[in-house]
Amino acid sequence: MASAVPVINDITYENLLEDPYPSFRRIQDTAPAVFVKAANLTLVTRFEDIARIERDPVGYSADNPTSLVNQIMGPTFMRKDGAEHAVGRKAIEPSFRASTIKEHWAPHFSGICKNLIDSFIEAGQADLFPALAAPMASLSLMQMIGFEDVSWETLALWSQSLIDGAGNYSRDSEIERKAMAAGKGVDEAIEAVLDYHRSHANPSILSSMVHADPPMPIEEIRANIKVIIGGGLNEPRDAILTLTLGLLMEPMQKATVLANPELWPTALEEAVRWISPIGMYPRRVTRPTELSGVALSEGTQIGLCVGAANRDERRFVDPDRFDIFRPKQSHLAFGAGPHFCAGAWISRQLVGKLVVPAVFERLRNLRLSDHAPPTIRGWVFRGPISLPVLWDV
Ligand code: HEM
Repeated sequence: MASAVPVINDITYENLLEDPYPSFRRIQDTAPAVFVKAANLTLVTRFEDIARIERDPVGYSADNPTSLVNQIMGPTFMRKDGAEHAVGRKAIEPSFRASTIKEHWAPHFSGICKNLIDSFIEAGQADLFPALAAPMASLSLMQMIGFEDVSWETLALWSQSLIDGAGNYSRDSEIERKAMAAGKGVDEAIEAVLDYHRSHANPSILSSMVHADPPMPIEEIRANIKVIIGGGLNEPRDAILTLTLGLLMEPMQKATVLANPELWPTALEEAVRWISPIGMYPRRVTRPTELSGVALSEGTQIGLCVGAANRDERRFVDPDRFDIFRPKQSHLAFGAGPHFCAGAWISRQLVGKLVVPAVFERLRNLRLSDHAPPTIRGWVFRGPISLPVLWDV
């Protein structure tokens, strides 16, 4: 007979934010699904269980009518299943095609990266979060969306406010106010450029949406752009910093990659396995079921902790170590199943082929600062929040 979901009461939210990996391991060793009081969610942390769940989108739905994402951002295809999901996904697909990435986005992203590095290279030191990764991710997402006249700081603020709003289960009124203000700003920014995109087809996401067959309705455009702003900025930013950090911590691996540039894609995959920028995303159990011997009742909200699964000792040897030489094995950092990240290929290009190689090529003798260690934080979204470095001028 299936057992009940165990409960863990003594993991704090701060434990998860500061360093979730010891808690993840404890949950993994406890049961396939565990209710963690601080998260107010049943967490699934083992690799094979998450992979199984993502192969069964009927039993485990991405659709959650009560979720704050729907309330704060509106009706998005990312929280739909089946045909409704497929229509939205197809509408944005032209912006993410391999040929579009290569011919259109890559040259634009290289230009942004060059200008940013030019702006601080003479200083010989920087915190790569504000100096490079945050503006890089924001400016490239801005171009992809097709916005004009929005500063990178504004887009980054909208992104953070929308994420905070979507996770605001304590109903903090200030967080709600900021999320609503960000939503209004996004709606206005869309309004300002929509006619242009209607009359000038181009590779941007807004253009793909208005030229889709049938065109995406305006309230869905607004909702999906908000989710893309909330979900498409942190991750490349964090992946840029994580890959840079991993290589700076492992000089031998760094030397090998720099001598063998064909290893950059491997290094990027290892970085997002090691510290997954999205550590957890939600699903809903649609019918009474059993997950590896644990009974899950209909309607249970579960959190798929891909950040934990990517360090599951049942799958990866010495999983806490950044190691580009580990045997090749798939990970879950970009999700799996029908909701597999739409931005995976563009992020692989941006982070692993353009930005981080440029960082190591242009900043000579790049090294971690002696005085200020990097800070890494988060569990739903995780990455370095500071990365102070030095280089020779
Ligand atoms: C290193 C960078 C990135 C990582 C690690 C990442 C990770 C993920 C993950 C784990 C999911 C699944 C979420 C779920 O099923 O609830 C996802 C979905 C998605 N991502 Fe990414 N992402 C990255 C970059 C991006 C970028 C740059 C964009 C857009 C410009 C983007 C757009 C999307 C979209 C649209 C979805 C929803 C797909 C769907 O529901 O069909 N991602 N991403």
